[in-house]
Amino acid sequence: MQEHITIVEVGPRDGLQNEQQPISTATKLELIQRLAASGLTHIEAGAFVSPKWVPQMADSANVLRALPQDGAVAYPVLVPNEQGLDAALAAGAREIAIFAAASESFSQRNIHASIAESLRRFEPVCARALAEGIKVRGYVSCVVGCPYEGAIAPAQVAQVARALHDMGCYEISLGDTVGVGTPNTVLTMLDAVSLQVPVAQLAGHFHDTYGMAIANVYASLRAGLRTFDASVAGLGGCPYARGASGNVATEDVVYLLHGLGYHTGIDLTRLTDTAQFIAHALGREPASHRPAP
Ligand code: HMG
Ligand code: MG
Repeated sequence: MQEHITIVEVGPRDGLQNEQQPISTATKLELIQRLAASGLTHIEAGAFVSPKWVPQMADSANVLRALPQDGAVAYPVLVPNEQGLDAALAAGAREIAIFAAASESFSQRNIHASIAESLRRFEPVCARALAEGIKVRGYVSCVVGCPYEGAIAPAQVAQVARALHDMGCYEISLGDTVGVGTPNTVLTMLDAVSLQVPVAQLAGHFHDTYGMAIANVYASLRAGLRTFDASVAGLGGCPYARGASGNVATEDVVYLLHGLGYHTGIDLTRLTDTAQFIAHALGREPASHRPAP
């Protein structure tokens, strides 16, 4: 039997959050529906963050309310604080993601808090969510490098990952926010983190600034990771990491995984059509390597 790899599709959130042009709620919903029809079972649907800082995510409540919450597909949403949690719960969220960083400068710029303050802020968010039966995923950003500080010590990443795990996050997604990692720096980081959090509870989240993301997925796979975040059409970029490009394209990851003999449950043709759909809606070509069908 083929081993299963889980892909967490982050296109509707990480992929779209930095888009300057208006994208209608209807287009976001069609994107999410097409992704689900392609076989994706984990689709990050939005973010309950300040609309002043990330205006593109301002309609996340309307997106989430329109999605079926029958459990067939998980639709996690980003939550930075209790205000975000209240709004996410009111919109029917069944899973949230809290997001910390391994870099002090990035943490300050992204969520206006030191790493320690952010962890203190996340504690009641996580506790309340868990008490309501809501799953909580944790992110650590800047796991290899930071746009403001350069290289980040693996021990620092391990400490933040451990704190989120201890809080009750079922999975920790390790974000190479700037996309500067190469397999050796990623593996050194994973060695440190896996001493603190079981590998089965880690996910890889690779941005593709230098074209290294697919190599980093492969290296992490060999190191035992079985969950990867990816963004259809390679959409994205972080508003607080200037110059950083989108996540590794979901189509490219699926092609790699199927080629290696893994099962994903994803239909590559439908996914490629979905990449065409959203790229067309944004007025450009997909940033993936897969040619149009
Ligand atoms: P702040 O300004 O320090 O917050 O923002 P505050 O508590 O002082 O409140 C100021 C105002 O924000 C108030 O409104 C609040 O109501 C409002 P005002 O009285 O001025 O009208 N506010 C909110 N509004 C809506 N939803 C909320 C919320 N909280 C406060 N939840 C805050 C702090 C964290 C809210 C802000 O900095 C923020 O929203 N940051 C968002 C950052 C973000 O979304 N970044 C991108 C996602 S992270 C990422 O992409 C990395 C990842 O992909 C992994 C990787 O690649 O590494 C996950
Ligand atoms: Mg990201």
